[in-house]
Amino acid sequence: MKAEELAQPHLLKQPVYVTGKPIAYTAREFGLDPKKIDKLASNENPYGPSPKGLEAAQKALLEANLYPDGGCYDLTSKICEFRNVKREQIIIGNGSNELLDMIAQVFLGENTEAIMGNHSFAVYKLATLAMNAKPVEIDMPAPDYKHNLRAMKEAINERTRLVFLANPNNPTGSEIDAQEILDFAKSLPEHVILVMDEAYTEFIESEAPNLLPLIEKGLPIICCRTFSKIYGLAGLRVGYAISRPDIISLIQRVREPFNVNSIAQAAAIAAIDDTSFVEEVREKNTQGLLQLETGLNAMGLSYVPTRANFIAVVGVVEPLKAFDYLQKKGTIVRPQPQIGNVIRVTVGTKEQNERFLNNLKSYLIEKSDS
Ligand SMILES: Cc1ncc(COP(=O)(O)O)c(C=O)c1O
Repeated sequence: MKAEELAQPHLLKQPVYVTGKPIAYTAREFGLDPKKIDKLASNENPYGPSPKGLEAAQKALLEANLYPDGGCYDLTSKICEFRNVKREQIIIGNGSNELLDMIAQVFLGENTEAIMGNHSFAVYKLATLAMNAKPVEIDMPAPDYKHNLRAMKEAINERTRLVFLANPNNPTGSEIDAQEILDFAKSLPEHVILVMDEAYTEFIESEAPNLLPLIEKGLPIICCRTFSKIYGLAGLRVGYAISRPDIISLIQRVREPFNVNSIAQAAAIAAIDDTSFVEEVREKNTQGLLQLETGLNAMGLSYVPTRANFIAVVGVVEPLKAFDYLQKKGTIVRPQPQIGNVIRVTVGTKEQNERFLNNLKSYLIEKSDS
């Protein structure tokens, strides 16, 4: 019997998530030296892992023969202290991606719907489809590609269970005003859970909406954060969600027993205290964005204004060709043909940004000559 005949029918149409291309793949494909390739495709931290996190991870490796603490007791305590919330309000995930999947598992199924932006994080749609629920995609129009909260609200019906909102949004980098988000959260009916994806919040910290007081008041909101971005721990896979205790306890039911490995737990605990690293990354990111904006302006290209650690460059004709061309030159970016002539590039180090800008410039020159 064919496997397809045994599978859940809705999964036969399930798309597969395509990740940012790893350096080794580009090196193999184009015969390049991996050391000469800049990966600016997955919004990773170009300054490496948090040094405190790295040191703790190295120590934790010595006990890799033991299973991790499935309940992440120490990391949960640390987050309680850091975010001023109670233990019952926290769940830790194998990256925030796993949290998004678990949230979908708990709250979505046949005859339910989840609302999301049409140019938002691809996992929202995939997690929804995997549960045989309906993704309702709301247009995020050019030129600023912002979430349209009014249209999201209007799309709510009795089948709606989740609204996914990323701020800053990936892949566009666009932001919405903190007060608008707070008002939106307060306006949702009680059968709809707001999943606030705060993967890039640390880059806008002072101006990000603080939804914790609304959670405290009992509103159904889940805030997801990650150690993959500003803390530089993407390879270790760790993120967390804060919500109402009744919501968290339901998500705990679908959590794999040892979902977060011991190295990641130790690294995340230490990274939270690495405030000087976080501040340094934030500052260097601001400078890097300025460098990229200046270079793009000089080329006459536009971009979506952002404060995240990536930028959506608009007006790059044939973005898939640009992707290939840039790889050959040693820069991996993320083409966004579903948006239009857009490529997304992570803010790298000064040197990486410079190489990207030079490579992009030569692509534009070649394109105009051909
Ligand atoms: C908006 C957004 N949410 C969640 C994630 C998942 O991050 P992780 O699973 O590494 O925590 C990403 C990763 O790029 C993202 O861009």
